[in-house]
Amino acid sequence: MTWDPQQYARFSGQRLRPALDLIARIPAEYPRTVVDLGCGTGNVTRILRERWPRAGITGVDGSPQMLTEARKLESNIAWEQIDVAAWSPPEKFDLVFSNAALHWLDDHPALFVRLCAKVAAGGVLAVQMPRNFGAPSHTLIHELAASPAWRDALAGLLRAQPVLAPEAYYRLLAPVARTLDIWETEYLQVLEGNNPVAEWTKGTWLAPLLNALAPPARAAFEAEYRRRVAQAYPRQPDGKTLFPFRRLFIVAGL
Ligand SMILES: C[S@@+](CC[C@H](N)C(=O)[O-])C[C@H]1O[C@@H](n2cnc3c(N)ncnc32)[C@H](O)[C@@H]1O
Repeated sequence: MTWDPQQYARFSGQRLRPALDLIARIPAEYPRTVVDLGCGTGNVTRILRERWPRAGITGVDGSPQMLTEARKLESNIAWEQIDVAAWSPPEKFDLVFSNAALHWLDDHPALFVRLCAKVAAGGVLAVQMPRNFGAPSHTLIHELAASPAWRDALAGLLRAQPVLAPEAYYRLLAPVARTLDIWETEYLQVLEGNNPVAEWTKGTWLAPLLNALAPPARAAFEAEYRRRVAQAYPRQPDGKTLFPFRRLFIVAGL
């Protein structure tokens, strides 16, 4: 999919918080090598660089748009444009990190086995993924795209949500992990502006569907989604909008 770094950055504060919560729980003291999978514009990769100033750090992303932004700031980070589905470097890393990216990949049982194999002995796999796919922000996208007016154009693009239940990651990782720390947090996000939940999903889950439509159809689909989502997330008396958002965290010592 084509990413729009500006749209994604509109809620940078809310999107950064879970990354910081994940980093705070990583037990690695002096990892020599760190890879950030699905690094996007590198905002979080640069925080990894500050936390471990002496580590060799690589940011991997499939989007040229996101990596163009990442490269704009000098950071002593190696940026690589690769699809994580095909990522298979010869070396292992002391820290394999991924924030808000692996939900774009399917078949998590196979993916997590593959990622564990890229963690050096004594290293850490640290992952955060949204698990908000049952919330109206996301179910309304599916409902609308699967409706008679849109299904011919869009139903083929609908993905089953790939993120498993926390217990499933426990069962996958417990046989190979020395330590395992898995938790979920639901952030009560307080958003400002006009229909901010629609603006949020426009930067992520809605984008592949909008990208697939020609401009007039795109505008019609977006307008109907915005109408429905505004009803599901009404403004509070203070003019702000509450957007509860659930995220899953996994820190595995290998
Ligand atoms: C929501 S952004 C998160 C970016 C960054 N990790 C952060 O926390 O700000 C998701 C990123 O994952 C990347 N991505 C999604 N699927 C990918 C894949 N199969 N291979 C590589 N990158 C992928 C996207 O290009 C995008 O930059």
